[in-house]
Amino acid sequence: MKEVVLVDGVRSPNGRAHAEKGWFRNRMPDELLVACYHALFERNPQVKPEMVEAAYIGTANQGGVTNDLGRLAWLAAGLPESVAANTICQQCPSGMSATEHAARAIMVGEGDIYVVGGVEDMDKAPKGMYIPQAVLDKYGQVPLLMGPTAEKVADMWNVNQDDMNLFAYWSNKNAAAARDAGKFKHEIVPVEGHDDAGNSFLVEHDQWIRDSMDMEAMKKMKTPFKENGKITAAMSSPLTCGACAMILMSREKADELGCSYTIKYRGGAMAGNDPTIMGVGPIEAVKKLLARTGVSIDEIGVIELNEAFASQSLAVIRELGLGTNAPFDRVNLWGGALALGHPLGQSGARIIITLNNIMKYERPDAKYGLATLCGGFGNANAILWERA
Ligand SMILES: CC(C)(COP(=O)(O)OP(=O)(O)OC[C@H]1O[C@@H](n2cnc3c(N)ncnc32)[C@H](O)[C@@H]1OP(=O)(O)O)[C@@H](O)C(=O)NCCC(=O)NCCS
Repeated sequence: MKEVVLVDGVRSPNGRAHAEKGWFRNRMPDELLVACYHALFERNPQVKPEMVEAAYIGTANQGGVTNDLGRLAWLAAGLPESVAANTICQQCPSGMSATEHAARAIMVGEGDIYVVGGVEDMDKAPKGMYIPQAVLDKYGQVPLLMGPTAEKVADMWNVNQDDMNLFAYWSNKNAAAARDAGKFKHEIVPVEGHDDAGNSFLVEHDQWIRDSMDMEAMKKMKTPFKENGKITAAMSSPLTCGACAMILMSREKADELGCSYTIKYRGGAMAGNDPTIMGVGPIEAVKKLLARTGVSIDEIGVIELNEAFASQSLAVIRELGLGTNAPFDRVNLWGGALALGHPLGQSGARIIITLNNIMKYERPDAKYGLATLCGGFGNANAILWERA
């Protein structure tokens, strides 16, 4: 089996998915992905687009917007027709799944260079798509919705509001600190957007990060998913748009081309679970992955866990023995989706890009990094990375 290394990763800033207030309300999702494709090849001139075996791009709900977004964005970017692109759908883990597919293809020798990533615009995607009647009969319609799954996890895992508000507070605080220290400059590609007044400007940072967090005000927020429930907007990842792309390569090809890298792919795992508590899926995915690779959770120095909701994040963190309450010493050090946003199909790849940068710049002592996330309808993925 060949070794697989992550050569580079970039992402658009994450914008609010809102028809009037979103900075990218006048952009289509392919444009955000095109910006990432272009930046990747500009930053890595030794990698010519025609050398790429294929592009695998994850997206959750964009099938209702356009067909095969990964391919159409590739063509829109003016990249070679001879390079195939494959759009992959696995709800929120789509971008991570795309990464795993490419890594496995490299390992077995089908190709040496792949572009992988994800893209989503939750404002432009259609809402309320079809669900098979047999699935509705078994689980019910409301229990399958993301908000109600977060409420159910909070109840079943006894996660209280104070702990979730604290978690949201630290997500935003860590994200704001990382942004202000320029840490996201390693990964963010500025993209032109529009401010509230309609003026165009170069968007250089994520739109959702909240600079001021009033814990007393947060305690009084509404619970939109359940009357007298626990989950508020502050404890939920917001509706977001964004894209990202990376270059994965066999180690031998990266060395031949003189590309530098920090981490290599050690293995991936998927786990399915009850879709009405989809948020706790990473518990099983991570356990499988650790058992398969023989690495213990204590050996992992950096963890990126996608924050779909504070309830599922805390349930997963506690079950995996990573701590009890925020702040955590190795989880989401630069903030998470509660602050950065969660453009569904993008996030599974975005957290790998951030993980790579944290391992490169902030925790050079960490041997292993773990990226994991849950997904709608009970899909969860996890990937273990090792310092190369
Ligand atoms: C929770 C949710 C319904 C909120 O939607 P919304 O009402 O349009 O969201 P907003 O972001 O405008 O927030 C609502 C209010 O809470 C406020 N708010 C959000 N976070 C806050 C915080 N930390 N402190 C104080 N106020 C906050 C907003 O400012 C807003 O106030 P306003 O109405 O006075 O402007 C929506 O974000 C959602 O559905 N999230 C989950 C998405 C999802 O399912 N993703 C997949 C996960 S698997």
